[in-house]
Amino acid sequence: MKKVVFALIAGLMLMPISVKADEGMWFLMFIERLNHRDMEKEGLQLSSEEIYSINHSSLKDAIVQFNGGCTAEIVSKEALVLTNHHCGYGAIAELSTAEQNYLKDGFWAKDKTAEMKPKSLYVRFFVRMDDVSKRILSKVNDKMSELDRDKAIQQEIALIEKENSEGGKYTVSVRPFFQGNEYYYFVYQDYKDVRLVGTPPESVGKFGGDTDNWEWPRHTGDFSMFRVYADKDGNPAEYSTENVPLKPKHYLPISLKGVQEDDFAMILGYPGRTNRWMPANGIEQNIKFAYPAWVEGAKLGMDRMKVYMDKDATVNLKYASKYASTANYWKNRQGMIDALTKSGTVKTKTIQETKFNDWANKPENKAEFGNVMATINGYYAKTNLKSRHDNYLSQLMRTAAFGSAPANLGNTLLDYYNENEAKRAELLPKVNALIETVYGKFYAPLEKEVFIAQLNLYSSKGSEYGLSPMMSKWKEENKGDFTAYVNDAVSKSIFASKESVLNFMKDPKIENITKDPLYAVSNDLQTRVRAKSDEQNQLDDAFEKAFRNMVKGMRASSTSAIQYPDANSTLRLTYGKVRSLPKDKRNDAKINNYTTMTGMVKKYKAGDEEFDIPARLLELNEAKDFGQYADKAGYMPVNFLTDNDITGGNSGSPVLNGKGELIGIAFDGNIEGIAGDVIFDKKLQRTINVDIRYVLWIIDKYAGAKHIVDEMTIATDNLN
Ligand code: ARG
Repeated sequence: MKKVVFALIAGLMLMPISVKADEGMWFLMFIERLNHRDMEKEGLQLSSEEIYSINHSSLKDAIVQFNGGCTAEIVSKEALVLTNHHCGYGAIAELSTAEQNYLKDGFWAKDKTAEMKPKSLYVRFFVRMDDVSKRILSKVNDKMSELDRDKAIQQEIALIEKENSEGGKYTVSVRPFFQGNEYYYFVYQDYKDVRLVGTPPESVGKFGGDTDNWEWPRHTGDFSMFRVYADKDGNPAEYSTENVPLKPKHYLPISLKGVQEDDFAMILGYPGRTNRWMPANGIEQNIKFAYPAWVEGAKLGMDRMKVYMDKDATVNLKYASKYASTANYWKNRQGMIDALTKSGTVKTKTIQETKFNDWANKPENKAEFGNVMATINGYYAKTNLKSRHDNYLSQLMRTAAFGSAPANLGNTLLDYYNENEAKRAELLPKVNALIETVYGKFYAPLEKEVFIAQLNLYSSKGSEYGLSPMMSKWKEENKGDFTAYVNDAVSKSIFASKESVLNFMKDPKIENITKDPLYAVSNDLQTRVRAKSDEQNQLDDAFEKAFRNMVKGMRASSTSAIQYPDANSTLRLTYGKVRSLPKDKRNDAKINNYTTMTGMVKKYKAGDEEFDIPARLLELNEAKDFGQYADKAGYMPVNFLTDNDITGGNSGSPVLNGKGELIGIAFDGNIEGIAGDVIFDKKLQRTINVDIRYVLWIIDKYAGAKHIVDEMTIATDNLN
């Protein structure tokens, strides 16, 4: 008996860790071949066809990409859409005013007529995908330059897009995988009439704010609700009062049963980007050069914005979304620096690369792979300073509208006035839309201060790599302090406000753009962003080729155990379990895989920007008015943990049980596991989810919008 057990343990230890359920962002079309048996063992009760079928309705029909950057799910036969609060954030802020502040107070449409249409918001349904690797790679060969290779590939991609778009009905996208060793096409259908149905107040939807962001134990009700509208035949249509709710092919039933440690959990969604194949020196470059610059630039921008946001509710609404996304990545990048340093990822990867390099230099592999690692390592050594410079510059452009807008707008206007009357008439709506975009979320005093601070930082820290000749001159003339310069420029510039742009357009003189002092700086910065020396182009080409070959070689030699391609905003499935973290005295829950209302109230700070709780919610909790949503143990659940493999872009994704019923919405990862984008750590990495019972409790009892809950389907074996 003992012997058997010993053999079993030894056997387990020999098993490659990569086949464990939690790691992996899988393609739906390969579930049957790669994962289905494993998933069944873990607790899945659906067939692969019920998850992904081209001909019949399946789970995939209930999953949408939300506004390009998040995921959402359809939860009723009238196309109610559930996603995160932080995914709906921009739309909610846009629909709010200082008087009718839905970010602050929440909103629930009493009926369909009260649902609100934000300016631009779309959802994207996934229709089908297929492998076109052979077709595309037959057009290229190893002797081609990267430029020619790319041209040949783009030509073929254009054909594939045309063949599958059915005359514009579908959006077709062909994407590279495994660093360009494989290609797949994806067929999507976009719906643009998407309306806000409801949102909890920020004190629920963003409870814990940036302090709790990326942290566990967590108590955030990170959800908001929308509805997809279509024309009467179910086709996508521009907004119209004639439109009707879409009748979806599939929508998710809800489970109120609750979750327990080791329960099966799977997530479908659109993970944005991972870098699991990134070489050791790339990680080192990020830790030492790129991310520290990112963190410093982002923080500077945030701090300056905050001063003005705190003073004025209207300014706050204008900048809420930009601030939150800057803060989100600021904390993420600092977390990456810490986690990657601590976990010794660079060392692990270096060992792997050494093994690969030995293989690559065997006589039979040398011709194709011998130089790969040397090229890659040489590339990073030569681009460290550039990556630091680029990150300071990109944070400047991201946080300061005066950095990017005068060039964008100025160049658009230059093109516009270059055209004849007829063409101008055609272009005018676009010009006006751009003016709206720039100045719709714009407060000049704030912008001035952010711009000054960022120019000072960039011109100081970026000079080690090199500034443009103009920027060097400006820096010298101003002794590194752009305060007076920017103040003066803004006082004279066309681009200082919407009014001055419109005034310019009444009596346009082209030289007033080219001589404009803000345009001059902005255009110089933008040129710097885009500029690439011949030497840099050559470096990039060689790197791209080497990286592609590294991945090819590592797969051929099995030096890397990774069996799935990096995330790139295409639909993936990840499966795993409800899984606790080690006991944490900050969490009142019995097992550290969920949190409760009691724990949330412990964090409560009346009037605090991040930890306030609405009075009505406190009362409901006090009265234990949990309705059918409490756990059978009596507590009101808020969030729970799974070990699924997700990343940014998965935000809003459905968490499903073995029957395909909705048990939660994924909304975050934990800071200890944040290095997961580069190396998946089974011990540390978790997905943080809102419990669906909490979501429904808030809608039903707190918001009094029971009609919304009634629209959904609760799995019948849940009802008492
Ligand atoms: N960390 C979350 C994500 O990347 C976003 C959370 C937004 N909340 C915030 N406090 N900034 O999906």
